[in-house]
Amino acid sequence: MANFFKELVRAQPHTLDEIRISLDEDKADHKQFIPLLKEHHDYLEESISVLMDKDTTDFQKQEHLERFFRLLEMHGKSEEEVLYTNLQINPDKEVRLEGFSGLDEHDIAFQLEDELTGMGYKTQWTEEIAAKAKVVAGLVKNHIKEEEATMFPLAESHMTEEELEQMRDAYIQKCLAYLVSDRADSIYAGKWTGGEHRDSGADSFHH
Ligand SMILES: [Fe+2]
Repeated sequence: MANFFKELVRAQPHTLDEIRISLDEDKADHKQFIPLLKEHHDYLEESISVLMDKDTTDFQKQEHLERFFRLLEMHGKSEEEVLYTNLQINPDKEVRLEGFSGLDEHDIAFQLEDELTGMGYKTQWTEEIAAKAKVVAGLVKNHIKEEEATMFPLAESHMTEEELEQMRDAYIQKCLAYLVSDRADSIYAGKWTGGEHRDSGADSFHH
């Protein structure tokens, strides 16, 4: 109950430090994989709502775009390397296609991130930047919705409990590695060097 009220009165989005602590807790509590992914979607949505809201200030949007990309790297890359690679080799065609289309959607989001970085969003905020930020936020919002409605139920029904547990452990490890890399002094800021901690890809748990 205490947690419920804590969440209810929360006016601020989770900081990256809080998210790192929640990962340690989720690891210790053996939180189930799919609910864990949904929790991370919620962290992303805290910034998506700011980026898509016409009433938030440019400064808030700029701050949230950086937070959003840090979390998108953490969640998205870990999810690709752990979940998508396993979906892509599932015996069921529908499951495999989910794994491939999920990756395509991530690629588009990371492409837009590159474009926004090239436009210098960390040091300036133009109308072109605001428009593109809204596009990437909307894209990820729909992607999250689609994953929760279709991909996750498919994963739950086509994978064993043991596979899901192994994926959970690998996913948390990767998230922690992405999150601590080049950690910033401030909660949102800090350069994301990208890629450095990405290891050679697939962790296959499919038997
Ligand atoms: Fe996701």
